[in-house]
Amino acid sequence: MTTPVLARTRAEVADALAAHRAAGRAVGFVPTMGALHAGHASLVDVARDRVGDGAVVVSIFVNPMQFGPDEDLDRYPRTLDEDLALCAAAGVDVVFAPDVAEVYPGGEPVVTVEPGPLADILEGRTRPGHFTGVLTVVAKLFGLVGPDVAVFGEKDYQQLTLIRRMVTDLCFGVEIVGAPTMREEDGLARSSRNRYLDEEQRREAAAVNRTLRAAQNDAKYGVRAALDAARAELRSSIGVDLDYLTICTPDLEREFTEEDQVDQETPARILMAARVGPTRLIDNLPLILSGSTTGTADVVAGTTEGDS
Ligand code: PAJ
Repeated sequence: MTTPVLARTRAEVADALAAHRAAGRAVGFVPTMGALHAGHASLVDVARDRVGDGAVVVSIFVNPMQFGPDEDLDRYPRTLDEDLALCAAAGVDVVFAPDVAEVYPGGEPVVTVEPGPLADILEGRTRPGHFTGVLTVVAKLFGLVGPDVAVFGEKDYQQLTLIRRMVTDLCFGVEIVGAPTMREEDGLARSSRNRYLDEEQRREAAAVNRTLRAAQNDAKYGVRAALDAARAELRSSIGVDLDYLTICTPDLEREFTEEDQVDQETPARILMAARVGPTRLIDNLPLILSGSTTGTADVVAGTTEGDS
């Protein structure tokens, strides 16, 4: 186990990567906000697979620009020592942990990345400006690190989709790789925010993934059946306050409605956000829709259909 180089500035990252670049070895990059867990470690493994004997860089930066005024910026967990230990165990070469002034040298940026309409749905509905903050910082981090490949989790599916879009639309020369979601034994997606859950909330939180799996099981009978199965699961769960539950095309360009006739196997994505206690959790799964259905209403939202 080698200790990763800890770089605090752009110059220190460049130094740490100079020998790799001179030897023509690839640079793989995993951007994070720290409070690292097994989900982050799995992204490091994917990056390592991609770059072989090249360098794997993990950034740790809690990005103020992607937090709303009422969100958890101040209490977001900061655990650098534990993060460095996890990176060492995972075989990371360089940990880039800049301070805010290094990433935002001119203070709040005037020029930002405009994410387009995909940022207004799902997470964007309750988190205005969030994806502008995410894309802007990811663009900055790409500029600071200069990776050949960058790995992002499917856990944040809308984020991954928007980053792919940014890289395509703005012609960034970085390959984006999506990595599967790591879960606890009861299905709860690993998240830095899970540590906010008390014991009871932690038990209740398993309902989020159960809801998505219920839909996944019944997707073969169509959109309506999948959403019905999810609603039934939610009704039998306590403590889960639904924000959204929706089935979209894999590129998130279109929501399926219950009227949609699906007569051949059609890949889709089901996405959900819910509060358990004060903590907002998100999750998503792939679906294969088939069968044909008729009906109404596409998104189950809020207190009427989802809560119990
Ligand atoms: P953060 O929430 O720390 O997540 C960093 C990366 O880890 C993201 O790509 C996220 O999708 C992935 N990830 C989180 N939980 C995961 C899990 N259970 N399984 C697999 N991957 C998981 O996402 C961010 O930070 C920030 O928005 C960032 C992209 C760093 C920009 O600030």
